[in-house]
Amino acid sequence: MQQCHFGHGAVHLLPNYESPRPFVVWYPLPDNARIKLSLKHRRHDTWHKSSASETDARLGHIVHVLMGYPTLVISGTKLAQEIGTTRSEVWRLVQSLRDLGVHIEGHPSSGYQLASIPDLLLPEMLNPLLRGTIFGANVHHYYHAGSTNTMALEAAAAGASEGTVFLAEQQTAGRGRGSNTWRSAESVGIYCSVVLRPNLPPPDVLTLTLATGLAVHSAIQEVDSRVLPDLKWPNDVLIYGKKVCGILTEMVSEATRVRHIIMGIGINVNHADFPAELRPIATSLRMTTGTEWSRIELGAALLKSLDREYKALLRGNGAHTDILRRFEQHSSSVRGRDIWIEENPDLRGTTEGLDDRGFLQIRTREGVKPIYSGTVRLK
Ligand code: BTN
Repeated sequence: MQQCHFGHGAVHLLPNYESPRPFVVWYPLPDNARIKLSLKHRRHDTWHKSSASETDARLGHIVHVLMGYPTLVISGTKLAQEIGTTRSEVWRLVQSLRDLGVHIEGHPSSGYQLASIPDLLLPEMLNPLLRGTIFGANVHHYYHAGSTNTMALEAAAAGASEGTVFLAEQQTAGRGRGSNTWRSAESVGIYCSVVLRPNLPPPDVLTLTLATGLAVHSAIQEVDSRVLPDLKWPNDVLIYGKKVCGILTEMVSEATRVRHIIMGIGINVNHADFPAELRPIATSLRMTTGTEWSRIELGAALLKSLDREYKALLRGNGAHTDILRRFEQHSSSVRGRDIWIEENPDLRGTTEGLDDRGFLQIRTREGVKPIYSGTVRLK
């Protein structure tokens, strides 16, 4: 697949297996009271065995059935009937879940009972929270993935429907903008990519990117309103000047029509620390509040708010203008800040808000100029 980085996202030339090849435009993109939520659950061995294959849906199914009877011990026979397998297979699956940190009490002769639920982004945990959104029906979970954006791009090219979600507990080849990588440590972050197929002209994709930043902003605030995320154009989310979230927008487009967009969102949630080279620039929600966050709660809030933003943008009715206005409202750097562009250090000036397409404007010695691409560095 040929990929062109330009501005704040990447535009793909269609992969070889898709035909006919369209004309592709390079466009700058810029209670359950009994069940405790357990945030400590990591067991590395099984995860690595899972490799890049999708999580066995029966694992989530067992958790789902046990969650339905929180106060009861469920017999192995009943579980086997519920998921359509044998008692011995149920035992094997329960062991796998335990290896993943799911606290299940009991054994084949006594039956099973859930003691706590791990903070895993399993479809069975997320789907009930996503009813009514475009994201509820098609959530794919991986313990171990290369890059969820790459998976989503491939799936979209092969016809995956709008609203398909790819989530990984860990990425081994997480991608950031440009040639950057995205550090994706195991089960401490949200690594999520969604397939969108908007009926929008390519220039409006920038607005969708900005709206995704707003969705992250409102999801964080929904979970803990004391945290004040700061949006940095076009698609970073900062807390006290350090990055907590990055968004990678990739699209395949014809001249006037978007074929599909992949919105890749990486949030640093429960990281306790970062490697020395990232410490000055990266933070996590846990490092901000001093408490562990539920990735399920945050992940569901994120997809719900993205659903709201997306539907509003498609409806029109002034949503585009409203997104630009709210982005400015939640960004300390789009007005009155001295900035320079990392890839073009001579391009520097003072920010003067967003133009009506969503590009950042800066006042330079030569006048006001829009920034079409590049990484904004704050002085
Ligand atoms: C950036 O700020 O450079 C963008 C980072 C985007 C990271 C996310 S994590 C989920 C998705 N999969 C990827 O490989 N990248 C995005």
